[in-house]
Amino acid sequence: MRVATCMLLLMGLTGSLVEGRAAKSSPGVKTSVFGKTQDGREAHLYTLSNKSGLEVAITDFGGTVVSIKVPDRNGKLDDVILGYDSLEGYESGTAYLGATVGRYGNRIGGAKFSLDGKEFTLPKNDGANHLHGGFNKVLWDARPGAGQDTPTLHLHYLSKDGEDGYPGNLSVDVAFSLTRANELKIEYSATTDKKTVVNLTNHCYFNLAGSGTILNNKLTLLASRFTPVDAGLIPTGELRSVAGTPFDFREPTSVGARIEQDDEQLKLGKGYDHNWVLDAGVKAKPGLAATLYEPTTGRVLETLTTEPGIQVYTGNFLDGTIHGKGGQSYARRSAICLETQHFPDSPNHPDFPSTTLEPGKKYHTVTIYKFSAR
Ligand code: GLA
Repeated sequence: MRVATCMLLLMGLTGSLVEGRAAKSSPGVKTSVFGKTQDGREAHLYTLSNKSGLEVAITDFGGTVVSIKVPDRNGKLDDVILGYDSLEGYESGTAYLGATVGRYGNRIGGAKFSLDGKEFTLPKNDGANHLHGGFNKVLWDARPGAGQDTPTLHLHYLSKDGEDGYPGNLSVDVAFSLTRANELKIEYSATTDKKTVVNLTNHCYFNLAGSGTILNNKLTLLASRFTPVDAGLIPTGELRSVAGTPFDFREPTSVGARIEQDDEQLKLGKGYDHNWVLDAGVKAKPGLAATLYEPTTGRVLETLTTEPGIQVYTGNFLDGTIHGKGGQSYARRSAICLETQHFPDSPNHPDFPSTTLEPGKKYHTVTIYKFSAR
């Protein structure tokens, strides 16, 4: 009798028992079953919340951020990212909504690169190029942790030597935590047993108003240069000044103010789909990279990072065919991604900050999405 009571209490505390393994909960982290993958594995939803009104739900499928609920200037909560209501959407989706992106965030030109004279070929999943890799489609091991003040979700994935063509067994850890300052902090770490390339990022599609387009959002980027691209959106290698171009966001400027200008780079990206070179470069501690302000709700999103670059993507490929949360169809420019990263195609640009990881060395980057309202 006592044992049974204890068991029930324990199950209440730890969430459901799943295929013989407990889906653990922890203070500030609620665990529930999200669904079954097509091959029958159970995926979970971990909901992190803090006392300042921020609530973030993350699934172990793809290390995906499913929702971020944030107060506006009147305290009204809204979900400020695009996503799906169920696991099936994430499993079949192709837009990386909310995903942890890797092994290499953004494009690798010609879907190949060389290390020490040996060429590695990757799947061509974006025309002739490779985009993002497959971390968004795998089930990560999850472990909720930390105390009430900083609820945390630890995710782990072992990417095997040769997976997607990349060399080296790469052991990857991603920790998502909520701070009392309404920050979603994402810490990425990785080690390898063979020289490889790594570029991890998150692909949240933000819509700070909760609906509509993002064209009225005011964006500030702490970047005086960007990396212009060719027709395949591969950097040409040039670091071009933003001065006098529609890429100058050094002062707060509406995303839509110049997006339709007759500009070669905007045409190639079908809008903004470019990497900006952050003035602060690679940093030991996260520094401010971008501020996004939504005037009708007053919501502000500051992005801080240790990374040298940020890919700003204005949802140019969204075309209303995705039916997301609550059956909403996601129209063109209904969200903006702020993907902190090393520059696209770095493995083929020796002049860019290096994305090579060697055995014995640790990959470690931090990005913070900080929410407020004014
Ligand atoms: C990145 C790319 C875009 C697009 C999205 C996913 O942001 O730069 O071109 O592929 O991912 O749809």
